[in-house]
Amino acid sequence: MDVSCFSQNVLLVTLLLAIAVSLVESQGTRVGFYSTSCPRVESIVRSTVQSHFGSDPTIAPGLLRMHFHDCFVHGCDASILIDGPGTEKTAPPNLLLRGYEVIDDAKTQLEAACPGVVSCADILALAARDSVVLSSGASWAVPTGRRDGTVSQASDAANLPGFRDSVDVQKQKFAAKGLNTQDLVTLVGGHTIGTTACQFFRYRLYNFTTTGNETEPTLLSPPHSFPSFKRCVRRTVMGQGGLDWTQAALTDLITLSLPT
Ligand code: HEM
Repeated sequence: MDVSCFSQNVLLVTLLLAIAVSLVESQGTRVGFYSTSCPRVESIVRSTVQSHFGSDPTIAPGLLRMHFHDCFVHGCDASILIDGPGTEKTAPPNLLLRGYEVIDDAKTQLEAACPGVVSCADILALAARDSVVLSSGASWAVPTGRRDGTVSQASDAANLPGFRDSVDVQKQKFAAKGLNTQDLVTLVGGHTIGTTACQFFRYRLYNFTTTGNETEPTLLSPPHSFPSFKRCVRRTVMGQGGLDWTQAALTDLITLSLPT
């Protein structure tokens, strides 16, 4: 049986949003919430994540990022998993999220073990923790007992921090969630794992200053030698990135020994 988290379309009624948000915010969570109703929940989620990680380790950063994108929009209510037109999933900041199949797989197994008990929101929270552990990060106890939301609107994802946001804007967006600057810095440490697509830093490669074709200094540190970074430079030079050919890029082609 294939059970998916929120596989059917959901009617998006703005009025319900306020109710859903208050439900999510008032729910109580605690470590061991399922100790009687589904004692194997943690081991089932862990083994599922482990098995997917075994064939594709990049699933770990994908799940961690998905958890953040879920929690930042009306709390950790799994609304990111809801399918359908105009849902959070379809919003631009969420288009490259990965790992939905891992959550669906865990949900299928949990439905077989303890039907109708474990929320998808808890599965995602546990899977994010397990992903960090599998990536050699620290572990932590995950309080469970989240309820799944039923409302998901793409427009609400607009409050997610954007890659072009200034630090001040990022601080404001976190403050709106009750998170301070230290929380921001700590959480952005989530980028210790994972990758970014060329499109998110290409604009910082050349023409960084207004006075010349300079590369942003932080991009000259170790990643500069990574093959994927080189490919990004190359695609930019070849005009596939929508940027103009520049002298600086040509120099990089030579100094990085990139194929033309
Ligand atoms: C604070 C502002 C943040 C901004 C502007 C931001 C932006 C981004 C961007 C542009 C990417 C690249 C996406 C891609 O190429 O597919 C990314 C990836 C990622 N982000 Fe963030 N992020 C932020 C916060 C966070 C937080 C708080 C976490 C987790 C605690 C997180 C976890 C990740 C992970 C793990 C990846 C790699 C995903 C992968 O490899 O699939 N991010 N982020």
